[in-house]
Amino acid sequence: MRLNATPLYTPDQIQARVEALAGEIRRDYAGRDLVVLAVLKGALFFTADLVRAMAREVEVDCVRARSYAGTASTGDVRFTLLPEIPIAGRHVLVVEDILDTGRTATALLARLGEERPASITVCTLLDKPTRRVVPIEADYVGFTIPDHFVVGYGLDHDERHRELPGLWTLAPERDE
Ligand code: IMP
Ligand code: MG
Repeated sequence: MRLNATPLYTPDQIQARVEALAGEIRRDYAGRDLVVLAVLKGALFFTADLVRAMAREVEVDCVRARSYAGTASTGDVRFTLLPEIPIAGRHVLVVEDILDTGRTATALLARLGEERPASITVCTLLDKPTRRVVPIEADYVGFTIPDHFVVGYGLDHDERHRELPGLWTLAPERDE
């Protein structure tokens, strides 16, 4: 699949939004200890930019989810990586690339909740609310978008395009 001719969001637009979100998070967590959990691999670049723009001390760790098609409303989401640092009694911010059906984030919040953190919030770069299967809302949203498949800035299509500094939609294939 090809990329559309113009980006959905340019690197400058993304960085401006990341800085605004980082400012909001910094204010909301002022004076509190904070653990930031990046959901691999999609949130890798977003998390790196977000924590640096926060300009405060944080602890960073990663989680990784794998989802299988399932009939249950939450699908079948399994975690192949969970945080190594203790999160019990601590404030946790989960950083996602995109909230689509909501299955991954819902399953992740349930799993992390078992560790008894003091609080958990979700920050997602992109939100596709029209695709939601499980009702979940992020506390911090970079961009709310319609139901288009998006790549770049960490998001992939079959592992391609994660390295693009902007966000792009894919063009439908044409027969030539
Ligand atoms: P969920 O459907 O909310 O559980 O989202 C699961 C995962 O699907 C996300 O973390 C992404 O990795 C992937 N995904 C959903 N929509 C897109 C998209 O538009 N581009 C790239 N990946 C996507
Ligand atoms: Mg993916």
